[in-house]
Amino acid sequence: MKCLGVLTSGGDAPGMNAAIRSVVRTGIYNGIEMKGILYGYQGLIENQIIPLDMRSVGDIIQRGGTMLKTSRSEAFKTKEGRMQAYRVMREHHLDGLIVIGGDGTYRGALAMTQEGESVVCIPGTIDNDIPGTQYTIGFDTAVNTVLDAMNKIRDTATSHERIFIIEVMGRSCGKIALQAGLAGGAEAILIPEIQPNLNQIALSLQNSMLKGKKFSILLVAEGVMSGEQLQSKIKEITGLPTWVTVLGHIQRGGTPTAFDRSLAAHMGSEAVEALLNHKKGKMVTWNCHQIGLKDISDMLSMSPEFDQNSYDLAVRLSL
Ligand code: F6P
Repeated sequence: MKCLGVLTSGGDAPGMNAAIRSVVRTGIYNGIEMKGILYGYQGLIENQIIPLDMRSVGDIIQRGGTMLKTSRSEAFKTKEGRMQAYRVMREHHLDGLIVIGGDGTYRGALAMTQEGESVVCIPGTIDNDIPGTQYTIGFDTAVNTVLDAMNKIRDTATSHERIFIIEVMGRSCGKIALQAGLAGGAEAILIPEIQPNLNQIALSLQNSMLKGKKFSILLVAEGVMSGEQLQSKIKEITGLPTWVTVLGHIQRGGTPTAFDRSLAAHMGSEAVEALLNHKKGKMVTWNCHQIGLKDISDMLSMSPEFDQNSYDLAVRLSL
């Protein structure tokens, strides 16, 4: 391996820049020429490639987003699109690629591996929905962003004695809602992994109010329903008014937490070492404080693990 490329793909996540920095500096430390591909797989097809040196990745460790930009590429899902991308790789003498992103990014990497390219994936998504790793880069920051919003909303909820509904991201995964809800003391957490009993939730809100609980915060993951839908269900069942906040893309931005930055540093370095050791079609993982590698193909056939203990605990503590 003499020359490696790095790209970010799919939704941006805080800590992607820290991962790019780690990849580039580990590569250069090992005598490898490093190149950045702009706009993810689409940029590879369109030949948007820049040289990267030690200084190109200075002053980015603390920044959210991705200095390499990102996109979701439809063209890369086609064989024709990928063949064009391989031609660009040859033109730039890229011997291997490190891709940072979520499950769509992994599917692209698997296709590349099956077609003979050397690729290693780094899990970067706020959703934390990649099987095989306990953490993805960006999740911890997003959870803390939701927690910060909950704390602020709690001030109004207690002062006005209101019921608030906060809608959070996560696609079809409820991990952001679950972790923020547990840490923030939500009265109810609605996540796609557990079929919600709306009657029970609405009636227990009503009972709590009758017993003297004057305010409540409910977290609903976007994969279950929208905040507004939940609001009308609660109104329909109990007649109680609620206030809805949709956090949206605020959850994707901001300076990465210490955890996300150090996770990114470990994962970036491990990804480069893997390619230098001729390992292909792998994803970097983080389990029980240990960095590791798994086959992308294995990971794509699994479902993300669900933390039932945390869910049960959050329910018990929300009385
Ligand atoms: O995958 C990250 C994520 O923020 C999801 O939580 C959300 O469903 C989706 O991306 C939103 O995508 P976009 O920014 O393209 O609307």
